[in-house]
Amino acid sequence: MSSQKDFIEQNKERFVEELFDLLRIPSISADSAYQKDVIKTAEAVAASLTSAGADNVEICETPGYPIVYADKIVDPSLPTVLVYGHYDVQPPDPIELWTTEPFEPVVRKTDIHPDGAIFARGACDDKGQMFMHVKAFEVMMQTNSLDCNVKFMIEGEEEVGSENLGWFVSRNQEKLAADVILISDTGMIANDTPSITTGLRGLSYVEVKVTGPNRDLHSGLYGGAVANPINILSKMIASLQDDNKHIQIPGFYEDVQELSETERKAMAEAPFDLEAYKAALDLSDVDGELGYSTSERASIRPTLDVNGIWGGYQGEGAKTVIPSWAKAKISMRLVPNQDPEKITNLFMEHFRKIAPASVKVEVTPHHGGLPYVSPTDNPGYLAASRAMEESFGKTPVPVRSGGSIPIVALFEQELGLKSILMGFGLDSDAIHSPNEHYGLFNYYKGIETIPLFYKHFAELKKA
Ligand code: BES
Ligand code: MN
Ligand code: MN
Repeated sequence: MSSQKDFIEQNKERFVEELFDLLRIPSISADSAYQKDVIKTAEAVAASLTSAGADNVEICETPGYPIVYADKIVDPSLPTVLVYGHYDVQPPDPIELWTTEPFEPVVRKTDIHPDGAIFARGACDDKGQMFMHVKAFEVMMQTNSLDCNVKFMIEGEEEVGSENLGWFVSRNQEKLAADVILISDTGMIANDTPSITTGLRGLSYVEVKVTGPNRDLHSGLYGGAVANPINILSKMIASLQDDNKHIQIPGFYEDVQELSETERKAMAEAPFDLEAYKAALDLSDVDGELGYSTSERASIRPTLDVNGIWGGYQGEGAKTVIPSWAKAKISMRLVPNQDPEKITNLFMEHFRKIAPASVKVEVTPHHGGLPYVSPTDNPGYLAASRAMEESFGKTPVPVRSGGSIPIVALFEQELGLKSILMGFGLDSDAIHSPNEHYGLFNYYKGIETIPLFYKHFAELKKA
């Protein structure tokens, strides 16, 4: 019987080739033109679990995209790890900014990844990270070292709000019973600075429409005499924050959990290089809420951002027109203990109130999600910490992330389980952006670390 490390070393190339096969399928959940591909990806994930040695592999139908379930119960008296991940990806747009095709994976070296990185949509978020769990499972099966029972739940709608996963989880509580949930869908500080994510922000997302005249008008004949919806929408949006970037929606901060000075000090100890941060984004300065550091602004503070704004004439040349309407998509990232539904309602009420009588305003809420925090003294966190310490040779730092995985709070509500966010991506991996990539170092490190999590978790649960 070869050791886990030997087995990984002997199968390295194959592990990458198999991930490539998965990355070649454009599983874009947001675009219905890719429906067949999304389903094909679910089938490919299921097949990979079967060949890795899982039992009860199922493609569970939902009103939307299927959830892939599989398990391996080695001994009912052992603890059970429930692995969550997603096989859907974001649209690749803007496609012209990709150096190579988004669904034709290639390995290229970068400054941050001198050993090479896999470039493809989904390489890091989340096919690459999810597939590490399938391969780590194969490693444990092949080296006869699976120390826990394992269940897999891999969904295909994470990037569009996990619309049907809550439904699935609440109907399958027995089937999904476990001791901990393990997720690799977040990042770490750097390849030489491992970290574990201990919190995620929530989300409230709305679309707004401001309507003026019943048709586009000649801007000379009518200009100055009727409301211009784009001018008004811009002004309304600008008024949502003051000069200190404090959000002006009444009640918005009411439930925000402030961190203690001790907690803020502990946070400030995590390595962060502001100059490198600015340089990586070609920015001469950062911007954000007064009184908070960049790390705090991007994790423990709530935000309001316009994600898109449009209306009027966008074609070539000049068209003199007062548009009939203007629209914007606005996201608010939430922190503990803000409630997405409450925030959406506060937004809608406020936005309608600040609209002048010269326009009509409509606000449409989209999907939302609750924020999440996890303690650092439970067996799951300790197992992840020990696993990373063993594979990286350094104790990982706990870090609260600014991103959202709304379903994580729901897992806690429905299954009573904490999720351990042991991610291996880097912020510079360009998830959701053109040229998304995932370091080969990170991919292999993940495959090496995951079995160590199982080992330490089993030990901690025995004690
Ligand atoms: N994996 C990301 C979330 C993430 C990335 C968290 C890095 C922490 C670090 C996930 O796939 C994602 O993109 N989530 C969306 C929310 C969803 C409702 C579309 C997000 O955060 O925008
Ligand atoms: Mn993800
Ligand atoms: Mn994502």
